Amino acid sequence: MDDLRHKYLDLISNAADEGALEDLRVQAVGKKGEISLKMRELGKMTPEERQVMGPKLNALKDEINSALAAKKVALADAALDERLKGEWLDVTLAGRARRQGTIHPVSQVMEEVTAIFADLGFSVAEGPQIETDWYNFDALNIPGHHPARAEMDTFYTHRAEGDNRPPHVLRTHTSPVQIRSMEKQGAPIRIICPGRVYRADYDQTHTPMFHQVEGLALDKDISMANLKWVLEEFFSAFFGTHVETRFRASHFPFTEPSAEVDIQCEWVDGQVKVGEGNDWLEVLGSGMVHPKVLEAGGIDPNEWQGFAFGIGIDRLAMLKYGIPDLRAFFDSDLRWLRHYGFASLDQPTLHGGLSR
Ligand code: DAH
Repeated sequence: MDDLRHKYLDLISNAADEGALEDLRVQAVGKKGEISLKMRELGKMTPEERQVMGPKLNALKDEINSALAAKKVALADAALDERLKGEWLDVTLAGRARRQGTIHPVSQVMEEVTAIFADLGFSVAEGPQIETDWYNFDALNIPGHHPARAEMDTFYTHRAEGDNRPPHVLRTHTSPVQIRSMEKQGAPIRIICPGRVYRADYDQTHTPMFHQVEGLALDKDISMANLKWVLEEFFSAFFGTHVETRFRASHFPFTEPSAEVDIQCEWVDGQVKVGEGNDWLEVLGSGMVHPKVLEAGGIDPNEWQGFAFGIGIDRLAMLKYGIPDLRAFFDSDLRWLRHYGFASLDQPTLHGGLSR
């Protein structure tokens, strides 16, 4: 018994890990372990022998079990110490700074415009950037021979040779979304459609891709007066100050009557200030939706009427945030984006005053 005791206490104290320790446990006190087998031999002993050997064997078994348990704890402690050594980190080290991206002024202004018109009861509609010539032109009362088609410097897509269908176009304005929305929703309707538009034009004030927001409101008795109120309300909310508007008679094929709208401004040292002074700046086209356009959208012009308008979003962003050059909007110059961009958590809301 002494040999057994020494043997196992030795082995246990030298066990390298929990696996080895478990092997020892099985070997010593497992069902077929050496000590367990010895205990089975008690049955063959005389009662006197058993009285001596029984308690001894039990004591040995207890001692081995305690040694196993103690070693197990010691091994776990050692393993934890080892891990902590490896996983130690210096929480006083300086962090690695990461550049945050910013929201592009065009996206910011789209959000602002959307927030204002949502407050006025308009919902947002969208349409494809690659349009059929029907939606982009014909349905808007711009027939094939109409000068407006030529004026718009349209990008046409390519058709396979022998395919004589009219080519699709990159939409030249957001107005086709009017037709698509009328078809989808019918009347009454109150929507805005912000989005990208394309024209083959490039100079200081024109880029081949730019942004517009279309507006459309149809009901039984909507008039130019409602248009004027809505636009004045919009500009005052957008610029955060009362803005006078001036309606000038104009012509668009899709509205009758039509008006171009200017906002009040002042030029100070080559910078424009909106809502002050005696100058005017043209910002949008608008009018009462032409009966033919209503018909093209599947709406009865004898029953419904209303206004539409189209605003240049990039122009609005330049005016509000004092950005001088339109082309820089689309240069993807990081320095420009960091300078004119907006923090991603600065979501414009009406109650928050729209922006910083
Ligand atoms: N689609 C016109 C353009 O791109 C803008 C416009 C004018 C839109 C009058 C309208 C409108 O809805 O009624 O130049």
